Amino acid sequence: MEGKKALLAVSFGTSHRDTLEKTIAAAERDLAAAFPERKLYRAFTSGMILRKLAREDGLQIDDVPSALARLAEEGYTDVLVQPTHIINGDEYDKLRALAAGQAGRFQRVAFGVPLLTEPEDYQACVSALLAELPPEEEGRAVVLMGHGTGHPANAAYALLEYVLHDWGRRDVLVGTVEGWPGLEEVLRRLAERPAVRRVELRPLMLVAGDHAKHDLAGDGEDSWKSRLEGAGYETSCVLRGLGEYPGIRALFVEHARRAAQSA
Ligand code: CO
Repeated sequence: MEGKKALLAVSFGTSHRDTLEKTIAAAERDLAAAFPERKLYRAFTSGMILRKLAREDGLQIDDVPSALARLAEEGYTDVLVQPTHIINGDEYDKLRALAAGQAGRFQRVAFGVPLLTEPEDYQACVSALLAELPPEEEGRAVVLMGHGTGHPANAAYALLEYVLHDWGRRDVLVGTVEGWPGLEEVLRRLAERPAVRRVELRPLMLVAGDHAKHDLAGDGEDSWKSRLEGAGYETSCVLRGLGEYPGIRALFVEHARRAAQSA
């Protein structure tokens, strides 16, 4: 008898229900469509987000251990785990460590990797981004705000910008809200291009949640929008999470497919 197969989509999570539906749920729908032989389940890795959703919205979402425990109890024997994380940072490490504790309950557990893992992932990601970003325009730069981390995987942001520039899009800059490079570095590099007067700001995160709404586009004096306007730039904000980009969602599907095919 063929065993029961599941696909567990694992996201950091967001407490902003509007963006959750447009990004995380959209990625899950694409994954479910690509693997009709597997039943899709959801887990979030952020305990803070899980507690907030339960407290404020009465929404119960599994963390990784409870999702895997549920799958084992329901008799699944083959689990494909696909994160929607951007980099191989703390959240992905945490996912792998938590899943390792339960892997023995299944005949097979396969793991897809985050968006930016192999060198060719960066090329594919840039291709998917450029399908959505506006074309290069005289006097304008596009600034992408990644999350950033103290984890060694933080280097992914600089490599992504390198590849964007290598593809000829030197008008696109990547900064991070919690890592390096940050806004100071972005401001410095914008200043090196005196022709730039306008800046389009976009999140480089799966969701357009708290960081996008407040740290990027908020009216507070420390938001990137306010700081850039204070520096004399005209700004516009496009609050679409990467999960709203079909080409990015396709890369998560591709990573899941690679994992499913690996022995
Ligand atoms: Co954060």
